[in-house]
Amino acid sequence: MTKRLAFIFVAALLCSLGMAAADKPIIKVETNNVQLVYKVGNDGHLYQCYLGKKLTHDGDIQHLDNLNEAYLTHGMKDYFEPALHVEHSDHNSTCDLKYVGHEVSTNADGATLTTITLADEVYPTTVKLVFTAYADNDIIMEHTAITNGEKKPVVLHKYASSLLTLDRSKYFLTEYSGDWAREVAKSETQLTFGKKVLDTKLGSRASMFMPSFFQLGLDSPAAENSGEVLVGTLSWTGNYRFTFEVDQNGRLRLLSGINPYFSQYTLKAGEAFTTPEFVFTVSDCGMGKAMRNFHRWSRDFMVKNGNGDRMTLLNNWEATGFDFNEDKLVNLMDDAVKMGVDMFLLDDGWFGNKYPRESDHQGLGDWQETADKLPHKIGYLCQKAREKGIKFGLWIEPEMVNPKSELYEKRPEWVIHLPNRKEYYFRNQLVLDLSNPKVQDYVYGIVDRLLTDYPEIAFFKWDCNSPITNIWSNYLQDKQTHLYVDYVRGLYKVLDRIRAKYPAVPMMLCSGGSGRIDFEALRYFTEFWPSDNTDPIERLYIQWAYSGIYPAKTQCAHVTTWNRDASIKFRVDVASMGKLGFDLKCSDLKDDEIGFCRKAVENYNHNKPVVLDGDMYRLVSPYEGDHTSTMFVSRDRQRAVVFAFDVNPRYSEHLLPVKLQGLDPAREYRVKEINENGNNYWFNGRTYSGEYLMTVGLHLFSTNRGLTSHVIELE
Ligand code: DGJ
Repeated sequence: MTKRLAFIFVAALLCSLGMAAADKPIIKVETNNVQLVYKVGNDGHLYQCYLGKKLTHDGDIQHLDNLNEAYLTHGMKDYFEPALHVEHSDHNSTCDLKYVGHEVSTNADGATLTTITLADEVYPTTVKLVFTAYADNDIIMEHTAITNGEKKPVVLHKYASSLLTLDRSKYFLTEYSGDWAREVAKSETQLTFGKKVLDTKLGSRASMFMPSFFQLGLDSPAAENSGEVLVGTLSWTGNYRFTFEVDQNGRLRLLSGINPYFSQYTLKAGEAFTTPEFVFTVSDCGMGKAMRNFHRWSRDFMVKNGNGDRMTLLNNWEATGFDFNEDKLVNLMDDAVKMGVDMFLLDDGWFGNKYPRESDHQGLGDWQETADKLPHKIGYLCQKAREKGIKFGLWIEPEMVNPKSELYEKRPEWVIHLPNRKEYYFRNQLVLDLSNPKVQDYVYGIVDRLLTDYPEIAFFKWDCNSPITNIWSNYLQDKQTHLYVDYVRGLYKVLDRIRAKYPAVPMMLCSGGSGRIDFEALRYFTEFWPSDNTDPIERLYIQWAYSGIYPAKTQCAHVTTWNRDASIKFRVDVASMGKLGFDLKCSDLKDDEIGFCRKAVENYNHNKPVVLDGDMYRLVSPYEGDHTSTMFVSRDRQRAVVFAFDVNPRYSEHLLPVKLQGLDPAREYRVKEINENGNNYWFNGRTYSGEYLMTVGLHLFSTNRGLTSHVIELE
């Protein structure tokens, strides 16, 4: 046993035996409005005693009762789902963690870092609970670090990032589920005794059926502007699991972390395992405030270039699919110029020579330009874009391989697939084994080579169309249960290198629509692709759901020909609530529609500081009926942009004015309708006080026709 561990044991022993009640530390993890409190019990264990609205009278804290153990272990007195299950080298699977000490410091972001150390008295296993509290945003992150102090390996069976206990009368869980092109459909369930699990086992395309966030209404269902709600997410680009377990006392235990499914992890002597961050906020006035907490915090501290600008673009995927050549692409660049966007984005289908990528059946992995399609290579396209005054972006899917590819022929051992069974495919492809450092070098090399050869590439769309299938890693051999974890760690190593060498290059995270999104990924990506479904009606729901934690700035929203029944105005207005792009060609539009788009892009550019960097207020939910409205307010509250949509107005419906939010009541705001189509609001041009707009409101909706929309600026 090392001197350090010996010290920890002695300290733990002293804690449990000799610590008088008055000496027992109370540990507060707090932001401006949220507080999480722990106390050390007479038995030396650490107990959570509070989570909720911050208690401002410090003296009251001592009165709080202990709830459950802070980091429950397998095999001891409490029979509910443990946070930790370690199998020691002698195969004993129990752990009894006692408080050793805690430290408080400030990190580079100015957030408060609280580290609580727990240790077992019998085995040299230590656990650190690490909290990072962002005061102004009311965001708390928690992760754990588990250290094996034994001389031999131990096996982690369960290793949660966080265990929180809530003691309320009722719990209402809002979750989001779906599949390709029908992502994030909302549903709400009341939790009663027993467990509800939200998890994923898809590996690379982890969020395909369910993104890793939820809202938890405490005492009452989560409402937009009232009631207490906990909103949480796991920052991990792989399999996750949230377990909500209501115990015999009616307390809810919320466990978050990597999904332990097929992920037993062996720790060598002295090795530590660091779990991903569980990020949460508690709002005492509904989901809206929680959402704004997440938006501000993520732009300031998580998202790549979170406070920087974003480029509008025209993408060729919907317009051409795989069927293009240089002339077609250059014509589309002309369309991009006509629409007034910043960039042309070349999608899938530009690579492969032995097996040209003419469909999704082949070529993936062979990242050389197809000679017939692009005889003058990417450099020519960069040059053409430059001549036209726009930027050039490129699609890649570097983690994947088609079996029909030169890469697969040369390096089958780099592919996750079973050596002794027939392969099966998801979109005709397989996943490369990123647990292998050689594969990490190869994947990094794809981006590095492209940016070295063509430094004018201004953007990457990074796609990922398959979950991990045929699970077997040639590299890991007898450590197969490390694959799901080491895949993600390998991915981060690649992305770290890319970000270090090319910090300014924006990248879109795409995964066959939205099969992959979380805040850890957004450290490397400026934006994500919420769905291949760009029908504007569906997008009203999809963008609404994702806005629960992800800011508008990160949600790519493209205008396409999905749902031609919706006017170009309706489609553009919906997309203008996110990071605007187009995925169509000018020949899909009439001349006046092209003119409309160009003007709308100008308006969008003018309003970017409000929509992309301001605060979002969701005024009327699409889930509530036939109309929906969202507004954005600049941080200084001088400007706002309001979007209103009549999706399915009813005959003679009684429509009330919509009360705006987030404005300065004392300020006067002038209403100016933009993206006009000759059907302006009658109050266009009038001036109102913020007080009036928030107390009386504006008649934003109409019963006239379906699929109408309005956008107004308040300045
Ligand atoms: C799936 C993406 O979601 C689409 O936008 C497109 O890039 C295709 N992949 C290309 O294969």
